[in-house]
Amino acid sequence: MLRSVIIAAVVNVFLPVNDALSLNMTKNLKVVVSSNNYPESGLQILREHFTVIKSPNTHFGEEGAVNNMELLKYVPGASALVWITHYPITKELLDAAGPQLKMVATVSAGYNHCNVPELKARGIKLANTPNVLSSAVAEIAVGLIIGTARRFTENLENVRRGEWILDFDKGLGQDIRGSTVGIIGLGGIGQATVKRLSGFEVGKFLYTGHREKPEAKALNAEFTSLDNLLKQSDFVVLSVPLTDETRHMINSTTLGKMKKNAILINVGRGDLVDQDALYEALKNNDIYAAGLDVTTPEPLPKDHKLLSLPNLFVLPHIGSATVRTRNDMAVLAANNVVNGLTGKPLITPVLP
Ligand code: DGY
Repeated sequence: MLRSVIIAAVVNVFLPVNDALSLNMTKNLKVVVSSNNYPESGLQILREHFTVIKSPNTHFGEEGAVNNMELLKYVPGASALVWITHYPITKELLDAAGPQLKMVATVSAGYNHCNVPELKARGIKLANTPNVLSSAVAEIAVGLIIGTARRFTENLENVRRGEWILDFDKGLGQDIRGSTVGIIGLGGIGQATVKRLSGFEVGKFLYTGHREKPEAKALNAEFTSLDNLLKQSDFVVLSVPLTDETRHMINSTTLGKMKKNAILINVGRGDLVDQDALYEALKNNDIYAAGLDVTTPEPLPKDHKLLSLPNLFVLPHIGSATVRTRNDMAVLAANNVVNGLTGKPLITPVLP
């Protein structure tokens, strides 16, 4: 017995850190999963390596402080947090977790709810789950384009009221064929949207962002300024992350630059759009329609003024909500935690 203890001690002293950690030593590390609806596929990976504490509650959405307070109970002593919610990662939460916290894995592409400067200052790694959800979100962008261009909200309401419009010249929508589609943010989701739309005989794809993207050439997408994109596009698709720079980038001024027949699609974050300005633009028919998968707040109260508009098509943030995509996100987040806590590079780092 004494001999094996001595051998283990010697082995641990001389083995490289990574190998020593993989000798089941990570089992002592506590990984906290913030919500009980995190898929089993991710849990299995985590359980192989760590002690997993899963919150017994579902935390999803942005309802705020009360539920955040509840999460404070589970985080003390955690080495990693798997964050399957948009509740903010606050200083208070990081304090409650304690100084041993090494990493946060948010099960989302967007990380605007994670206090990045604070994580950075504390040397805590951050990983997100980009790419695996690009096709699912792009499908929703295409769905919103069709739903708004062909006036699904209004038409469905008419059908429900028994008021079918059968006139040859009434209830007409807009064509995607021959249109100009402007993508604000040609990242993974923007690119996947262009790929999916390329079968629709779109006339021209424009995109804008900080810099030209090498992938744009193969997609036949032309780089331009935001102003020019807004002025030329029949469809404007928002697929940028929410940052201080992009918050309310669609406002009364930018809406004023759009064409009367333009349709705004938002699959990024609700706060990219000043919703009061959008309401006015839609009500006054300054633009043709808007399709939103994301709003502020979420959920949007059922008596919200936006929901009174026939030219708004809204979905409850279901961009990544498919069985396969949610599983892929869970697995990617879990593998990021395994890497992060065993000294390997994160697969999809925000803060390496
Ligand atoms: C994301 O991953 O950022 C999607 O919006 C789903 O939360």
